[in-house]
Amino acid sequence: MDIPKRLNRLGTGVFERNDLRKQAYHFASINGCLPPLCDLSLGSTDILPPSIILEAIAGGIKAPESSSYCLQAATRPFREAVAAWSERRFGVVVDPDKEVLLLVGSQEGTAHLPLAVLDPGQVGLILDPSYPSHRGGLVLADAHIEKLLLKFDQNWKPDFGSLSISQLEQLRLMVFGFPHNPTATVGEQSWLDEAMQLGLRHNIVIAHDNPYVDLALEGDSPVLLRCSGWREWGIEFFSFSKAWCMGGFRIAFAIGSESVISALRTVKGVVDFNQSLALQRGAITALTDFEDWPRKILGVYRERRDTTISALNNLGWEVPIPSMAMYVWMPMPSWSLEQGHSDEELASEILNQTGVAFTPGSGFGSGGSGWLRMALVLPVNELEEGITRMRSWWDANS
Ligand SMILES: Cc1ncc(COP(=O)(O)O)c(C=O)c1O
Repeated sequence: MDIPKRLNRLGTGVFERNDLRKQAYHFASINGCLPPLCDLSLGSTDILPPSIILEAIAGGIKAPESSSYCLQAATRPFREAVAAWSERRFGVVVDPDKEVLLLVGSQEGTAHLPLAVLDPGQVGLILDPSYPSHRGGLVLADAHIEKLLLKFDQNWKPDFGSLSISQLEQLRLMVFGFPHNPTATVGEQSWLDEAMQLGLRHNIVIAHDNPYVDLALEGDSPVLLRCSGWREWGIEFFSFSKAWCMGGFRIAFAIGSESVISALRTVKGVVDFNQSLALQRGAITALTDFEDWPRKILGVYRERRDTTISALNNLGWEVPIPSMAMYVWMPMPSWSLEQGHSDEELASEILNQTGVAFTPGSGFGSGGSGWLRMALVLPVNELEEGITRMRSWWDANS
């Protein structure tokens, strides 16, 4: 079969190669005498959700209706729980029928959104670096992609002012998110206000991907629902994957403008039957009875962050202190850059020499070149052990 050009444009190569290298290392380690893989390359945490959530899911699985297809009407209790959460959490009253949509992960939502709001060739803007589904969704919709480069010396703030009037007039969709993966930056409400104002002025759908809303370690996470105008042109994506540690269950939701939600619902009507009622039960329990739980895991991530940063500093690796939980965004050491390595080569070298896996920053777009992302998804002692393993490799090369 000839691979369609669209698939070639997806450009998932860096992640695929990294995964293959991890797999090869893992097999070599179980067959030989290499230390086990210390995988810090995925934002998939070791922390378990509250057991009552798991029990709600387990109980729901036995209910006969959980085995059936779940049509839109049957998601109403879930949408009502989302609306009640939005009112308690942000003081924003939303219509559970018209402004809320269940998703099979926020990745699914951001990937399908361009099909819902763009015609082929229309222009969508993403940040560079950004979460891969932001670009991937635009590619699948045959959109024209513009990128806004984020810069370290601007604290990764998107410079919306650099967009010309003619660029803004062409734009139909902007997809971005703070707290930001991979730069581990919480961001500011004023950045979203500025984007939303541009959306209102130039008729651009503003999509804010906010799965880390409860995971700011410093300051408050920005929220699109707090910007005036979201009801006309905004949509915001939230998830159970990060704050409630339920990534494998694949459940999330969007709140947004009635017309954008309706368009996305139409696309999803072709693609899926929502998510099992059993999983919806667990998600309702999370929103209703465990609203504050994400704040408790912040303490765990704060300890992981502080221990990791000081272990890296002891090694001689200076990295910016992340303001959000889960990730450390690490500039390549100057000696590695001077030796002409790319971030992918460095990640591969660290993996082969020490068994510690990071994500090459270029996987998030060319704006991530020269950086590696570490996910704080193992207990403190294992994070420390991973960094200790890098000592002799570091001393021999730096
Ligand atoms: C910015 C961003 N959006 C979406 C996702 C995926 O979330 P979900 O599990 O809800 O699909 C991730 C996962 O790492 C992410 O970092």
